[in-house]
Amino acid sequence: MDKKDNIFVAGHNGLVGSSIVRKLKLLGFENILTRSRKELDLMNSNQVEHFFKNNKIDYVFDAAARVGGIHANDNYSAEFIYENTLVQTNLIHYSNLYKVKKFIFLGSVCIYPKYADTPVKEEALLTGELEPTNEAYAIAKIHGIHMLKAYNKQYGMKGVSLMPANLYGPNDNYHPDNGHVIPSLIHKLHNQDDKVICWGDGSPRREFLYVDDLADACIFASKHFASAELINVGSGQDVSIKELVSLLVDIIDFKGKITWDHTKPNGTPKRPLDYTRIESLGWKPKYTLKEGLKKSYEWYKNNIDLVKLRLKN
Ligand SMILES: NC(=O)c1ccc[n+]([C@@H]2O[C@H](COP(=O)([O-])OP(=O)(O)OC[C@H]3O[C@@H](n4cnc5c(N)ncnc54)[C@H](OP(=O)(O)O)[C@@H]3O)[C@@H](O)[C@H]2O)c1
Repeated sequence: MDKKDNIFVAGHNGLVGSSIVRKLKLLGFENILTRSRKELDLMNSNQVEHFFKNNKIDYVFDAAARVGGIHANDNYSAEFIYENTLVQTNLIHYSNLYKVKKFIFLGSVCIYPKYADTPVKEEALLTGELEPTNEAYAIAKIHGIHMLKAYNKQYGMKGVSLMPANLYGPNDNYHPDNGHVIPSLIHKLHNQDDKVICWGDGSPRREFLYVDDLADACIFASKHFASAELINVGSGQDVSIKELVSLLVDIIDFKGKITWDHTKPNGTPKRPLDYTRIESLGWKPKYTLKEGLKKSYEWYKNNIDLVKLRLKN
């Protein structure tokens, strides 16, 4: 990537997109293009075509998606599959038509079969049944991966699909029900004094990756891959939800009681990622889970008004 290249970061207000923008700016990239949903609805193919026609885009980082935790995935599965397939279809199709040099697509660990061998290798894709609670989202993401592969095969379109572990960090979705586990817990532990109810029994293990490490991996991958490969991005830091809660209780200094709601689903069992492909080329994560959680909580406290505003809308 050249410092003068035009780089479109789709979904720049979100967790991943905002981190990619911060990283690109830090590295001195001068022409970073961003559009809010109001300015450019990525589900609308006419608007997307108009955007690519009128802006000479060299690189696309696709961090725009409908994203959420178990509750949101389970309850809004139609919206998850509809919105995600539309957004990525438009972005991939018009990126190819308007000769984008490279397309960086983002999937997630949930694309892999529920009972894949762990650590999960890229080869596990499409080898077994998916976790039912996020099947619609996973199928949309698998569609994106295969669309990029098909465009690479037929048109020679260059790109890479990155599959990160569970992400967290600044600009996360702090909705107590629809967000992922870390931001939801931060929000609850910060705002409730007496009692916090956590879903499931706390036994599932999860691998968490601080979002700035993913942004770093996205830029690294944009230099090293081009053939629509599927590449895992993990942290090697795998904890149980119980251990995670206890780390956050310490960081936030929560003095109330934690209880576990066993009627709620645990979600997928343990599934850390095998990320030796990217690691073997020299990439590795920089943040420990504790450092990342502390940074995330600092950001949350310093941006509480913004968080509340986003929760209202
Ligand atoms: N969060 C995780 O743990 C995680 C883990 C693995 C992979 N990923 C992947 O990383 C990517 C980004 O996730 P994220 O957590 O950063 O999500 P996020 O915080 O919810 O951000 C998504 C962004 O996409 C934008 N967007 C969605 N639909 C749009 C549309 N139709 N037109 C324009 N903009 C649209 C949203 O804009 P609005 O704010 O206006 O809605 C938002 O800014 C996704 O592909 C996701 O699958 C995330």
